[in-house]
Amino acid sequence: MKVTMIGAGYVGLTTGACLADLGYQVRVYDVDKGRIADLRRSQLPIYEPGLDELVTRNVGRGRLSFHDTIDPAVQHVDMVFVTVGTPSLADGGVDLSHVETVARDIARSLAPDTVVVIKSTVEAGTARHITKLIATVRGDDDIKVAANPEFLREGSAIDDFFTADRIVCGADDERSASHLERLYEPLTRRRIPYVKTSTVDAELTKCAANAFLALKIGFINEVADLCESTGGDVLAIAEAIGLDRRIGREFLNAGPGFGGSCFPKDTRSFAATARRLGVAQRLIETLIEANESRKRSLATRILTHLGADSRGKTVAILGTAFKANTDDMREAAALTIVPILQAAGVHIRAHDPKAGDRARPLLPGIVWCDTPFEAAEMADALVVLTEWADYARLDLGRLAKSMRGRMVFDFRNLFDPKAVADAGLSYAGLGRGSPAVSVSGRSAMRGGTANRAEKAAAPV
Ligand code: NAD
Ligand code: UDX
Repeated sequence: MKVTMIGAGYVGLTTGACLADLGYQVRVYDVDKGRIADLRRSQLPIYEPGLDELVTRNVGRGRLSFHDTIDPAVQHVDMVFVTVGTPSLADGGVDLSHVETVARDIARSLAPDTVVVIKSTVEAGTARHITKLIATVRGDDDIKVAANPEFLREGSAIDDFFTADRIVCGADDERSASHLERLYEPLTRRRIPYVKTSTVDAELTKCAANAFLALKIGFINEVADLCESTGGDVLAIAEAIGLDRRIGREFLNAGPGFGGSCFPKDTRSFAATARRLGVAQRLIETLIEANESRKRSLATRILTHLGADSRGKTVAILGTAFKANTDDMREAAALTIVPILQAAGVHIRAHDPKAGDRARPLLPGIVWCDTPFEAAEMADALVVLTEWADYARLDLGRLAKSMRGRMVFDFRNLFDPKAVADAGLSYAGLGRGSPAVSVSGRSAMRGGTANRAEKAAAPV
């Protein structure tokens, strides 16, 4: 089968390379000619573990090619996947302009039996809307549009493709349905469940899945807040409730609020679509506000620690990407927290192993450092915002020596509080008993009883 991906971003490039690895002939087109030129020189525009090798291997085997002109890219292929961005509109709804542009651009070049598949995350009814748009441009109704939402996560995208929990394919006609079934046959043969639905159900499945996962994170973040007032440990609670198979342990890690290119945008569009249709989604509306205010309140927590004279103090930020194993900065917590600290006159020194280049233009006025130790130099407090595995293995004693102050705000619960205390530092995780535990034993706890984190941080 011959397949074209329109959009060489996280989704288009990764799924394109994975489909090529399954043996298909895959063309990847992007409107960004520089991106295509880079890809032809084997320079990837994104960091995704394993993608480099996958692309090189499949280009080498002649199964993966990159294109900067649209007509030849979509001619003589069986399927065209639309994987362009669908950002938020001002009211939170989905901006479909890139998808519509693609539809208009390809409409006349498509052979009548080509199946167009929307992989971008869109609101319910988009595949049907795009079917009509293409029909209007062509003057016939030969082209059918299917919906095949993508569930991959950045940082584990390749694994997510080859060992997906399920593949969801929505089609309103037989040809699209059978093309999709054939395409994914190498994966369904490996027993990956295949869900065959209408286009609307596939589109809604994606929105509902992301909304539900985001709710899980929002919930555990609130449990973490409760732990801080009661002396509980959110890690213990997440383990215990996660053992209930109806709940599950995944996506129960407290953090600085979910970010990335999907959850914030997709929860907003879920709510906006529902609002427009008069079907209020109160849980999601509340979640969106809670998630944004969490980022702001964590910034306030840092400022409260720095005290009235925070102006001129220095904070070291470890990790700016929205999560580990990606260079993606979209809606990263750092983009809210760092400017609030800067507005209060705090100097920021930052390190991220992969996202520095993308973060630099988004976070001006920062001293970027090559190592976490360099970032920690003379810092009054250190804040972990991204859970890079390398940070968990840091020499805390060396970190302590670099710093001027003692406080470590671990907004990813990455460190063992006792190890931090042993290094002579004060530890404040999320939901680990107390918002601030002093190494000297003078607890900065706001209410609550002695707890594991506090005991761990007590002088030895
Ligand atoms: P991205 O921004 O990384 O890539 C989009 C690409 O599309 C860019 O390279 C851009 O130049 C290109 N593009 C824009 N307009 C174009 C046009 N008219 N013709 C050709 N190319 C065009 O976006 P992404 O993260 O890959 O996301 C794509 C879609 O997939 C979005 O709807 C997103 O919500 C969804 N999604 C993303 C992820 C993820 O983890 N990133 C996961 C699942 C679903
Ligand atoms: C998400 C969805 O998981 C994926 O199915 C979809 O296709 C794209 O959107 P992604 O944005 O790559 O994937 O990252 P994900 O691992 O889901 O994390 C999203 C955000 O939630 C990150 O900011 C992450 O740090 C945060 N998160 C995740 C938590 O705070 N706690 C968790 O337990 C899990």
